[in-house]
Amino acid sequence: MPFYGGEELATVYDEALDEGFGLIASNIAEPSIMMGLMEGADRMDSDLLLQLSGGACKFAGDGDPVAGLKAMGTYIETIAERYDIGVFLNMDHQTDPEFIQQQIELDIPSSIMIDASHEPFEENVATSREVVEMVEDANSDILIEAELGQIKGVEDEIESEEAFYTDPEQAVEFVDRTGADLLAISVGTQHGVAKGKDLELRPDLAHDIRVALRDHGLDTPLVLHGSSGVQPDQLQEMLKHGICKVNKDTRYQYEYTRTAYDLYSEDPHAIVPPEGVEDARDTFFNETDWSPDKSVFDPRVAGRDIRARIADVHADLTTVSGSAGQTLFK
Ligand code: G3H
Ligand code: ZN
Repeated sequence: MPFYGGEELATVYDEALDEGFGLIASNIAEPSIMMGLMEGADRMDSDLLLQLSGGACKFAGDGDPVAGLKAMGTYIETIAERYDIGVFLNMDHQTDPEFIQQQIELDIPSSIMIDASHEPFEENVATSREVVEMVEDANSDILIEAELGQIKGVEDEIESEEAFYTDPEQAVEFVDRTGADLLAISVGTQHGVAKGKDLELRPDLAHDIRVALRDHGLDTPLVLHGSSGVQPDQLQEMLKHGICKVNKDTRYQYEYTRTAYDLYSEDPHAIVPPEGVEDARDTFFNETDWSPDKSVFDPRVAGRDIRARIADVHADLTTVSGSAGQTLFK
């Protein structure tokens, strides 16, 4: 069964560190994005790391994040069975200890990110450590990602107006004291719509963090958040410095809406009546000769286009990040 837990995910990160590639950690807001990602990853023989934020779980569960996680977990597991790649699930930007405890008890995710990076250092250490202990107490193999430094921009329910770059020596103390399995660092990327040309990226800092950790015997995989605007050459530079997980959400959100927009823009009158025809949707246009075109408005038509586009986008990203051809589960 290719929907795996933390133990198998740890082997992927070991391989990624050895080989110098990164997994594109891809947020899913609804099932068509998830299906497209699976198709793209399978096409490229790349293992796949999906991500659900708290907001995405609430959306899937119509306000109830636990219901959303259960529903999406079952959906992912069922569809993943068709593919010969490893499929993993990370819980992205988690802040609620009660919800985290439920995730551990349900044993659905492969990894969980605790995001306490907005807190002062000591509180961040304490909160992150608490989550590591929750996993240890449950004898669970779920991996824990914690963040040090702050990334600018908006991601789901998290918003930061300022960026604080991660300090290498503090990173060593943070990993040592929290026991986190992965470290998210701030090296100039930005959540949301960002342009690579405007980012003040610091691959040199990623290098210093990696070296400082290794000097202290810590081979911790690093995580790059806010990667949607990062260009291929910029990403490949970052991947030289121990970054094994590259988070993308905004890019897929855009591709989803843009693909539907392109379809409906081709012939708007397949959906809305032309000028002079009453927009009588409540009667389903009973009094007019015009009718909408089911071969366009059936949501599965846009859904299929969206899946195909997300698959292509993800396939390209696995080439850029080097995870193409690296699946451990074929
Ligand atoms: O945690 C998710 C990612 O950091 C999202 O970054 O807004 O650049 O896609 P993005
Ligand atoms: Zn993020």
